[in-house]
Amino acid sequence: MEEKEIRILAIESSCDETAAAVVCNGRDVRSNIISTQIPLHTLYGGVVPEIASRKHMERINQVITAALAEADTTLDDLDAVAVTYGPGLVGALLVGVAEAKAIAFARKLPLIGVHHIEGHISANYIENKDLKPPFLCLVVSGGHTHLVNVEDYGVYRILGRTRDDAAGEAFDKVARAIGLGYPGGPKIEQKAKEGNPDAIPFPIAKIEDAPYDFSFSGLKSAVLNYINGKKMKGESYNEADIAASFQKAVIGALVDHAMRAVEEFGADTFAIAGGVASNGTLRQAMEEACRKKGIKFYHPSPVLCTDNAAMIGAAAYYEFLAGRRDGWDLNAVPNLKLGER
Ligand code: KG4
Ligand code: ZN
Repeated sequence: MEEKEIRILAIESSCDETAAAVVCNGRDVRSNIISTQIPLHTLYGGVVPEIASRKHMERINQVITAALAEADTTLDDLDAVAVTYGPGLVGALLVGVAEAKAIAFARKLPLIGVHHIEGHISANYIENKDLKPPFLCLVVSGGHTHLVNVEDYGVYRILGRTRDDAAGEAFDKVARAIGLGYPGGPKIEQKAKEGNPDAIPFPIAKIEDAPYDFSFSGLKSAVLNYINGKKMKGESYNEADIAASFQKAVIGALVDHAMRAVEEFGADTFAIAGGVASNGTLRQAMEEACRKKGIKFYHPSPVLCTDNAAMIGAAAYYEFLAGRRDGWDLNAVPNLKLGER
């Protein structure tokens, strides 16, 4: 007997992308509409929460309408409505949560709240139909740096996390320091292509008692000190060398921690996720490290690495299968922990 197709409308509004997608059976993306606010926030050098909420309100209905139209789907065809309910900016999250609740209530559809990081991890399922838990996943975004053991669908054990700045946050701060603007990740990646990654030996902190934890604030300070030192001496500095050397230090720490976990847990599959995972140099370094260890390596396409709703629809499908449903009291939880419901 053929299984019934489960068609989910997914909504994501946790930061500066207003996004909606229609996803069938978790891996078949029928539409994935993303309205980014990046050009607006660039003016201020970072995301301004009040502006983000207001823009989400202005755009969310259009984005959902477009997602349904592109998927040739009406609200009557849906089996559930999913939405990111945390972590993220509270005012931004609330727009998506209120919208999802309104649609689900009006259409008597199941409502599924999704953890944003679970969404990032699940982005890997979309283009890799053979990928199944268990696997290890490095989630590197603007707000998070987590090394996660994905034990099963919806079952996560966090092995390590950042003690201070997230990897993406470090890219953004260093980009600002060398005058590249927001968002810093793609700009540093571009600039680094013209530079020498071995030009400046930036230090990367190790945390003695927690081998899987990360710390990037020391590295960021080292870059700032290097720039200030040069300025004080009236010397010039090479931005491309700084970008390349900084990027090398971040990637070195990420690969080092990841491969240590692969060894300790005897993992045969490793995946990366989150906005920073769209960095080609990181992807190549991880790919190479996994090849050397003889394990499988997965990564989403760049458009599925940064915030989108297709990944929320993928995660929601497995939550749906596990029977998880939320009530009309679902609320935005800005500091939601992974694995908590
Ligand atoms: O996943 P995401 O879109 O939003 C969060 O959940 O945080 O990640 C955004 C972060 C930003 O810090 C951005 O600078 C970083 O991902 N990023 C990159 C690249 N593209 C985006 N970092 C390094 N290299 C990139 N190519
Ligand atoms: Zn994200």
